[in-house]
Amino acid sequence: MPPAIIDPWGSTLPEDYTQIVAEFGLEQFDPALFPDATTAMRRGIVFAGRDLKIIADCIANKKPFYALTGIMPTADRVHFGNKLVVESLRYFQDHGAKTYILVADLEAMATRGVTLEEAQHRALDFHIPAYIALGLDPKNTTFYFQSENHEVSRLGYEFAKRITYNEFKAIYGSADPGRIMAAMTQVGDILFPQLEERMPGIIPVGIDQDPHIRLTRDIARRTASKYKFWAPSSLYNKYTPALDGGLKMSKSKPETCIELPDDPDKTCKRLKSALTGGRDTVEIQRKLGGEPEKCMIFELYKQHLLPDDKDLSKVYKDCRAGVLMCGPDKARSCELMSAYMKNFAKELEAARKKVDKLHFIGR
Ligand code: TRP
Repeated sequence: MPPAIIDPWGSTLPEDYTQIVAEFGLEQFDPALFPDATTAMRRGIVFAGRDLKIIADCIANKKPFYALTGIMPTADRVHFGNKLVVESLRYFQDHGAKTYILVADLEAMATRGVTLEEAQHRALDFHIPAYIALGLDPKNTTFYFQSENHEVSRLGYEFAKRITYNEFKAIYGSADPGRIMAAMTQVGDILFPQLEERMPGIIPVGIDQDPHIRLTRDIARRTASKYKFWAPSSLYNKYTPALDGGLKMSKSKPETCIELPDDPDKTCKRLKSALTGGRDTVEIQRKLGGEPEKCMIFELYKQHLLPDDKDLSKVYKDCRAGVLMCGPDKARSCELMSAYMKNFAKELEAARKKVDKLHFIGR
């Protein structure tokens, strides 16, 4: 079988997370490694990573490390995957990481044809405030735009000599010039915090970004004798599934997708037609109980809407016992989701007022 390729710019999807862990040589995430693990970590939504012990050790021994992730300023909304990334980032931020958020404006230009002006406007007006609304602590975060951080570009150029066309193709499946430029810039992003001080770093991202992590780790290892960069650690979360049970919410199927922000009434309509673990009739469901494992409403509770384990396990038990029916449960998910959306909108407005005071490199 040819080796599987994850394409960070494409739309092919990994079918099965265990298979990904095995095939890409990832570590399965073990929440016991991390003190006060987040809800997503405890519930297996954060499911894999690379070199996580190194980061656990930094936390336990209060050694310096950094956490970094990137914002792609192309869409005009964010999604639940971004929320999971921010939650992980916030966790490391609270456990001693120097924290960086970059705006991938060069990548947006090279791979999506977005102008730098558009990308920057969108990032300042929406993406950065959205990340703050999702829980990032802006006071202790360093921000930058790829186009304004010359050290990042310099690193990308410097390392361009360390990878061949064939290696690039083996990792990404293709080697379009725009992708090469973007990937080398991302290597620069990931290693940039170590210019000041060599230290381990953790990069929480969607699993589609793993090729960039592998590339960066290869380059760090190959150049170790000269530069002594630590190969970055990484952390991956599962996708939030589409409401019809598809692996991942996608804008191409809007009726099965919820974004942030989204109109509460519209989201309630979508929740109403979501795939559940309900039985064919109420009678059968009373008798056999529902199947929360197959239910997208339950998955939303698990990933986002019911952070308290007691609440979640009550839903689970009541559903299994045939006491909780899908109608009232969907109505409840609508209430929770509406409250979440209203709060997000409020936090977003508040965060917009803070953008002027943020610490940006190069501006
Ligand atoms: N490629 C990332 C995306 O599509 C954005 C990004 C750029 C990034 N540089 C990064 C993510 C460094 C993590 C680390 O979303």
